[in-house]
Amino acid sequence: MSNSDRSRSANESAPLGKAEDIPAALRDGNKTPSNRVTSTTVSALPLGGIALGVGLFLVGITAFNLVTTSRDRSTPIPIASPNVDPTTTPATAPSSPQNNTDNVLNHLPYTEAPTAELVSIGGGYRLRKPAAAKFQAMVAAARSSGVNITTISAFRSVEDQKRLFFGVGAARGQQPTKRAEVSAPPKYSEHHTGYAIDVGDAAVSATNLNQNFETTPAYQWLKANAATYSFELSFPKDNIQKVSYEPWHWRFVGDINSLETFYKAHNLQGK
Ligand code: DAL
Ligand code: ZN
Repeated sequence: MSNSDRSRSANESAPLGKAEDIPAALRDGNKTPSNRVTSTTVSALPLGGIALGVGLFLVGITAFNLVTTSRDRSTPIPIASPNVDPTTTPATAPSSPQNNTDNVLNHLPYTEAPTAELVSIGGGYRLRKPAAAKFQAMVAAARSSGVNITTISAFRSVEDQKRLFFGVGAARGQQPTKRAEVSAPPKYSEHHTGYAIDVGDAAVSATNLNQNFETTPAYQWLKANAATYSFELSFPKDNIQKVSYEPWHWRFVGDINSLETFYKAHNLQGK
């Protein structure tokens, strides 16, 4: 195990564990020079000429229709969407934790789950009710496939995170910038939400909180099945937050509150 792996392991191994009916483009098409020239030509000619003029007029109209029809196929005419207000919706809405002015060392702010919302998942660990129910169903399904997923950490209070960030950081002589590569500062951990959990593989516990957890049957099973239970990896390789890869850290995103909790946190806030 490398130094950074050991460090990462101890970081979390603590028990703290979204007019008009005719579009202007078509109305403008009726003012083409071909229309105006044709009407002048009709009044100046005898009958044969009139017939010729009418013929030319019809040919002109046909040609005009062909041109506009072709244009319509290749260039869509903008139609206002009833759901989008172009005066308030930016053309692009960059979503990056680095744009969230509330980020600290690339970690995003989260509030502690209310105690009444937390339930035990065994082993002294707690999660929010909806996350707990799905997590336990996921563990049971894995077990029936011969995979034993263990819990290493779940809900953590701000006080818990203070010990992990400042306490362990000081004991290791780590500057906050270095510490933040593997541990969120207090008030900035997904674990505060009661939706995040760190897991291991009982059969390969040496990989606990180590990046080589990705080689275990538990990780492979989760990679294939976690979405079925509304869990996703928070910090995949090369994640947008630039937090160290954590194949063991999963978050519940299976209801409106959890989804808003994590995805609103990633939005540009500009305040
Ligand atoms: N290890 C993750 C980033 C946390 O401390 O919340
Ligand atoms: Zn974690």
